[in-house]
Amino acid sequence: MMTKDKSARATGDTAKLEIDGQSYDLPIYKGAVGPRVIDVSKLYAQSGHFTFDPGFTSTASCDSDITYIDGDKGELLYRGYGIEQLAANGSFLETAYLLLNGELPSSKEFDEFSNAITNHTMVHEQMQYFVRGFRRDAHPMAIMVGMVGAMSAFYHDSTDINDAHQRMVASRRMIAKIPTIAAMAYKYSIGQPVVYPRNDLGYAENFLNMCFAVPAEEYHVNPVIARAMDKIFILHADHEQNASTSTVRLAGSSGANPFACIAAGIACLWGPAHGGANEAALNMLQEIGTVDRIPEYVAKAKDKNDPFRLMGFGHRVYKNYDPRATVMQQACHEVLQELGIKDDPMLDVAMELEKIALNDEYFVEKKLYPNIDFYSGITLKALGFPSTMFTVLFALARTTGWVAQWNEMVQDPEQRIGRPRQLYSGAAPRDYVNLAKR
Ligand code: ACO
Repeated sequence: MMTKDKSARATGDTAKLEIDGQSYDLPIYKGAVGPRVIDVSKLYAQSGHFTFDPGFTSTASCDSDITYIDGDKGELLYRGYGIEQLAANGSFLETAYLLLNGELPSSKEFDEFSNAITNHTMVHEQMQYFVRGFRRDAHPMAIMVGMVGAMSAFYHDSTDINDAHQRMVASRRMIAKIPTIAAMAYKYSIGQPVVYPRNDLGYAENFLNMCFAVPAEEYHVNPVIARAMDKIFILHADHEQNASTSTVRLAGSSGANPFACIAAGIACLWGPAHGGANEAALNMLQEIGTVDRIPEYVAKAKDKNDPFRLMGFGHRVYKNYDPRATVMQQACHEVLQELGIKDDPMLDVAMELEKIALNDEYFVEKKLYPNIDFYSGITLKALGFPSTMFTVLFALARTTGWVAQWNEMVQDPEQRIGRPRQLYSGAAPRDYVNLAKR
């Protein structure tokens, strides 16, 4: 895992800020690509002013080497490699190695890494009893948050964040065990026995086997489906400083152990504005039902007085086609074809809706394009997952990105506890009044 030369980012340029006739020079930095940034870290000490940016729309919270998004171009790079190339040619474990280490692995490095991941897939047997404590109808995301947080109690020997070896063991444990935990959450929610991991299967193949095999009969994982699953994991592996990744970093900035930090990330991902949108997109396509009802829903989405939005459309960063949506659409077709689903009315509705929206002035003007969630719900449903599992699958894949970002943060010499400031608008200082006098 790498550390870098931070002096490379200085441009020598400064931004001038004038407050009450007093001028302040703020250093400007440049990244490898993307917009330049103004360093305001000393502004309070120098001027007594904070900056105000709710939702962090203009604030870079860290200096990172891992993932780059160009929202206007619709570009997503992991360590410089385009998501389309990785999804077409790479595997999820190769991508995980890349995100963690900064470079694609040699064959020898890949063998060592994939053996290590494969050999850490079992979870402590006592965790079986832990999962049984949940109500049978618990949401699998609730089980995931609990189980991952509980890993800190099961793997004491990899919670010292100042020990490089322990950090590596914890990182590999997280990536190796998260499919087992996700599958356990699923099996528990449907009342089936847990299927143990198998070391002779690939990462996605093993996960599908743990989800869909039962002890009563042989189960064969379809390789086309396993490849599609692997691709879906690649697409979701990292996405820069989104809400859940920032949560992991903020939790980690206090020195909390990695399992606790990833549990915090899973909790944040659960929300419908983040990881929960694919379920909402699928529900919307089901509700629309047939192609002839699309204009009615497009009109609703455009109506200022109607809160309805086209789910799976629009993105805070992408103001162009989400590059992951292109790959997801293709994976969706591959899965439906392989499963012999020739006429899926939901896919017909999705394709027609996409066509209509992409040509509609409202969507064009606001730069609202399909995002990854538009096609992922249809694909995951076809693979046999209930909608409650969609966010779980997202969390499984994103664990790799969270782990990479957490490692980068822990090793950053500039890292300090994350502590935003505020614009206080509450009561001014006042005196306490005794209860009897109020
Ligand atoms: N349907 C109709 N109108 C929309 C949509 C949509 N899906 N998305 C945005 N708009 C409109 C808004 O009404 C707003 O219009 P206005 O300027 O006239 O008020 C304008 O476009 C800008 O929208 P904001 O909500 O300000 O954009 P923001 O960046 O805050 O939100 C978000 C982005 C949350 C993704 C939004 O586009 C949305 O709600 N989309 C639907 C939900 C969705 O698909 N989420 C998945 C995101 S991808 C992911 O998390 C993996």
